[in-house]
Amino acid sequence: MNILGIETSCDETSAAVLKNGRVASNIISSQLIHKAYGGVVPELASREHERLIVSIVDRAVNEANIQKNDLDIIAATAGPGLIGAVMVGLCFAQGLAYALKKPLVPVNHIEAHIFSGFIQEDPKHQAPEDNFISLTVSGGHTMLCVVDNDLHYKVIGRTIDDAAGEAFDKTGKMLGLDYPAGPLIDKLSKKGNADFHTFPRALTAQSRTSKSYRDNFDFSFSGLKTSVLNYINNHEPEFIEQHLPDIAASIQEAIISVLVEKSVAAALKYNIGAISVAGGVSANSGLRHKMEASCAKHGIRLFIPKAVYSTDNAAMIATLANLKLSRGLVKPNNYDVAPFASFEYS
Ligand code: KG4
Ligand code: ZN
Repeated sequence: MNILGIETSCDETSAAVLKNGRVASNIISSQLIHKAYGGVVPELASREHERLIVSIVDRAVNEANIQKNDLDIIAATAGPGLIGAVMVGLCFAQGLAYALKKPLVPVNHIEAHIFSGFIQEDPKHQAPEDNFISLTVSGGHTMLCVVDNDLHYKVIGRTIDDAAGEAFDKTGKMLGLDYPAGPLIDKLSKKGNADFHTFPRALTAQSRTSKSYRDNFDFSFSGLKTSVLNYINNHEPEFIEQHLPDIAASIQEAIISVLVEKSVAAALKYNIGAISVAGGVSANSGLRHKMEASCAKHGIRLFIPKAVYSTDNAAMIATLANLKLSRGLVKPNNYDVAPFASFEYS
């Protein structure tokens, strides 16, 4: 079975083909146009998607060595995302499905991230067979879920303010880094000392309040932003410049230590032996190392997608459509468009 996946929810235009569940192509074009604005400009994103979608889909189909008529299913992101951007990909998918007389499967973007640790490139990769804890950390979402082997999930925690990726991007901006700052902070951190300064870890045992946060799986990153701003304002620009890698590493440590601590605590509390980390921030090398070390210490299996599948991509859209179709969990052609699509079954 050949599935075409289309992803246009934010600033990546992507198309992928899955042949019998395995990735045969995954083309991603990241829009550079937003750099000058320090964040994604929704209208510009929609226009870029419109400009690129035909050629990206053509490339995905060609690279998979098939013709469009060989496609069996068209799957596309239907939300959540920037509504104009989602509309471009979904309407294109709708038109293509109609022209080819093939079914369309709408896919929830965040749900696709959750299962991106199971994208198959070779026969060794497997679909989830057991319950796992899912940590989704992207530019817009930070969420912990318990996922069962019927692909049902329960949200046990989420950010009450900024997302983890947003915390990277906004503190990075304060340090004068380009958008998206996450990968740049990651790079700088490799040369810095993570213990240089202790930025706050909100809603954790190490937070400065006396309250116990033992079973609290929510996140908060807005205080970190304020703390970084105060730190920058209280030091000379030369000092900040000179210690940029140390400050970046200290910010990164504050974000990732909370992510690791809460994910592992959730696995232990719910007695679940596997954690899957997904979303753009799962590309972070510090998070990968720390999560690997903590999971190894507690005997927890860890699934993290390859970096190319961490950030937005269409292979995850096609993969989730495939998983759901194979388990009879989705009805093709039944689609909806929404900036805040619901994805909870229970
Ligand atoms: O999942 P994604 O591509 O798009 C959304 O759905 O939001 O995530 C983008 C986010 C951005 O905030 C970006 O800074 C962050 O992921 N990101 C990283 C890294 N690579 C991407 N954050 C930290 N370290 C990275 N290596
Ligand atoms: Zn995403």
